[in-house]
Amino acid sequence: MLQGKKIVLGITGSIAAYKSCLIIRQLIKKGAEVQVVITPAGKEFITPITLSALTSKPVISEFFAQRDGTWHSHVDLGLWADAMLIAPATASTIGKMANGVADNMLITTYLSMKAPVFIAPAMDLDMYAHPSTQQNLKTLQSYGNHIIEPGTGFLASKLEGKGRMEEPENIVACLEQFFSQQGSMKGKKVLITAGPTYEKIDPVRFIGNYSSGKMGFALANECANRGAQVELVCGPVSALMQTKSPHIHRIDVESAQEMFEVCKELYPSMDSAILCAAVADFAPETTAKQKIKRTGDDMVIRLKPNPDIAASLGQMKQKGQTLVGFALETNDEESNAQAKLKKKNFDFIVLNSLKDEGAGFRTDTNKITIITAESKKEYPLKSKEEVAKDIVDELERL
Ligand code: CTP
Repeated sequence: MLQGKKIVLGITGSIAAYKSCLIIRQLIKKGAEVQVVITPAGKEFITPITLSALTSKPVISEFFAQRDGTWHSHVDLGLWADAMLIAPATASTIGKMANGVADNMLITTYLSMKAPVFIAPAMDLDMYAHPSTQQNLKTLQSYGNHIIEPGTGFLASKLEGKGRMEEPENIVACLEQFFSQQGSMKGKKVLITAGPTYEKIDPVRFIGNYSSGKMGFALANECANRGAQVELVCGPVSALMQTKSPHIHRIDVESAQEMFEVCKELYPSMDSAILCAAVADFAPETTAKQKIKRTGDDMVIRLKPNPDIAASLGQMKQKGQTLVGFALETNDEESNAQAKLKKKNFDFIVLNSLKDEGAGFRTDTNKITIITAESKKEYPLKSKEEVAKDIVDELERL
């Protein structure tokens, strides 16, 4: 899996820097080529001589490195690499990465990186648990970077680790798993809907819901990582929700009607659609042109039904196309999900129950059951990134 892969290994100023020697040894044993980029603080913990002996390459550390004909610049490194791994990644480096503070060679390399980026944080528990660090990690993850943390499995998002760096063999296993799946969906086109929809009442008010869009974005990243071309149609999600994969084309919409128009247009040229958006079932019959004033009386808003995007695509579905839906239920979960599967002509439906803690809206985790016409498979509580892998695995199996 790692044979011939070119890995840029970023090392920062943490006591765990000594473990990067073990990472290098394992990567090289598995046939990878490793180029180390080290921060000035990193050099306080491990010497470039050791690292260059292990990698058989000069270590890059200076911001304005002397050009030696082979390693020109951070831009070249960004193009050369098949993956970038930052291990150990300190709170400082994570903060600089999240905010684009390009004051050393490692950060400039990160900002120029075209390949997927893996980050293995290493710091003490208090620094790790600080909201600044947590926010920076979330920001980096929402940009499609992979956070590798102990105890939470591959590409975790459940930010409850202890700050200790994941063990070298697990870090290397993450890279191997990533490369083993890369390209498995090459040539496939996938439509993904994500987030809530807003239905306007007047110029300043709307009917919406608590969907964050995280599940849909995780699905988009997962499909893109596997080489698919993704059309990500998203309702109003937070400005933090960003993607950087060249395989993801994002289309922002606001209302269910707008989402419907875009999806109808796109679906005929797609191989699959995953309908993850929490689409409002109703919209105000009329939208007031001016802000509605308080009159002292009761206020009544009459609602009209929105188009059912899933059911429409289900009707349009051709042989060879697949359609995946979600169901968020509070009661009679399985029978409701089964009914939706049939009614909307889904190939499978991903069921979330609001009875399960950590599942559904506004969480970083999810607990799902995948239901097809013939089968039912329950999964444990996982990060949304890991849940996305399970869903895309199921899609690929079809
Ligand atoms: N969906 C959709 N368009 C809608 C409503 C829902 O595409 N107008 C999709 C969702 O993205 C999801 C699936 O349909 O994949 C199920 O959504 P849900 O709201 O649970 O289903 P409804 O048909 O609205 O059923 P309910 O009566 O439970 O609200």
